[in-house]
Amino acid sequence: MKDENGAPHPLPDASGSGKLLTVTEPVYTSYKGSKQLERSCAGGVVGSWSRHGTGSQVASACYTLPMKAVVITRLGGPEVLELREVPEPVADSNKVLVRVKAGGLNFADLMTSQGGYPGTPKPPLVAGREFAGVEEGTGRRVMGYTQWAAFAEKTAAAPNLLWTVPDGWNEEQAAAFPVNYFTAYFAYWEAGFLSDASRGKRVLIHAVAGGVGTAAVQIGRILSADMYGTSSSDDKLTRVKELGLQHGINYKERDYEEAVKDLTHGEGVDAVFEMLGGEHTAKSIRCLRDFGKVIQYGTATGKQPQLDVRALYAKAACVQGLWLTYLSSKRELMNQAWEQLSAWVAEGKLQPVVGHVLPAQQAAEGYRLLQERKNFGKVVLKIA
Ligand SMILES: NC(=O)c1ccc[n+]([C@@H]2O[C@H](COP(=O)([O-])OP(=O)(O)OC[C@H]3O[C@@H](n4cnc5c(N)ncnc54)[C@H](OP(=O)(O)O)[C@@H]3O)[C@@H](O)[C@H]2O)c1
Repeated sequence: MKDENGAPHPLPDASGSGKLLTVTEPVYTSYKGSKQLERSCAGGVVGSWSRHGTGSQVASACYTLPMKAVVITRLGGPEVLELREVPEPVADSNKVLVRVKAGGLNFADLMTSQGGYPGTPKPPLVAGREFAGVEEGTGRRVMGYTQWAAFAEKTAAAPNLLWTVPDGWNEEQAAAFPVNYFTAYFAYWEAGFLSDASRGKRVLIHAVAGGVGTAAVQIGRILSADMYGTSSSDDKLTRVKELGLQHGINYKERDYEEAVKDLTHGEGVDAVFEMLGGEHTAKSIRCLRDFGKVIQYGTATGKQPQLDVRALYAKAACVQGLWLTYLSSKRELMNQAWEQLSAWVAEGKLQPVVGHVLPAQQAAEGYRLLQERKNFGKVVLKIA
């Protein structure tokens, strides 16, 4: 970037020294459906902010004071995360600034650092997809959803993906809400469980003790679903049963396909919430009853889902995809979902399950909890 005289435009030193840094020419990098603006600052800190859209929408962010952020320094596992000082974002007319207090950790954050998440820019990149904090200007307590840059003292947020924190919730609970509950809600919506006529329908929920899993159990309880859930640990299953899960299946001890067959007297379930991929997609289809539906919403194994459509013929079954990144662009749908979710929250029926709260300095430890399957519910990072 250059000033009106064509000279390089200085930025504040990200170390907080007040020294001005010279910024190199911006580099625009295209990604699927998005463009990225990168500026390299002397001193090694690289600011990286971007937004979806066409070239005309790019170059909207600029840089001011330094702030602390969890930065994905390069592609790799939890070891690539560092708490660094980076320049604060400045919101353009389509965004608002939020002073972030806490960030919710998602499996997608792991995939992002490993370079496997569609649409995210390459590192260095500020991590994080959901957050809770205070909206600048109004002082409103908000929780929000974004694609990256949430784990920082400030983030520039889309107003339509910010929701008022429910009364009585602290910031850790609020940071644990958006991804888990919108995803779980849309899974039930896609599976056709939301009408009164669907009460008693059976659902198999994989990773039932995780973030999305525990949210799905709380919503399933409201919908009077008959819930079957898988986990690697009896201890986790005992805790999810306290949330309303009726049938826990420890997949380390028992093949879940057989367990579902036994528990449902050979009939199968109406829906499977499947986020593992690989052979589990095919197995999950085999767990279905007639006209059943697999909601495919992840690939935690890192393997392509195995899908033989011939397996669907015999049961008139189907597989439907779910991706919150995509659905979150559908404003009317998100508003309808929030209307229902916030009503359930107001009735005290939804309470985010926060298993671990860690300081931002221990972000890598949080990522490891998810990677090593040691989390229960949500892992939350305290940002400020
Ligand atoms: N499509 C979407 O919009 C969307 C939105 C949110 C999440 N997701 C997907 O949903 C899944 C859960 O996400 P989350 O953030 O709520 O994470 P999470 O469930 O809180 O954590 C992951 C859990 O998955 C289980 N797991 C099973 N196989 C695993 C494996 N090979 N590697 C690691 N964990 C494994 C582990 O629980 P057990 O040990 O109990 O099995 C682990 O604790 C992820 O696949 C994620 O990508 C998709």
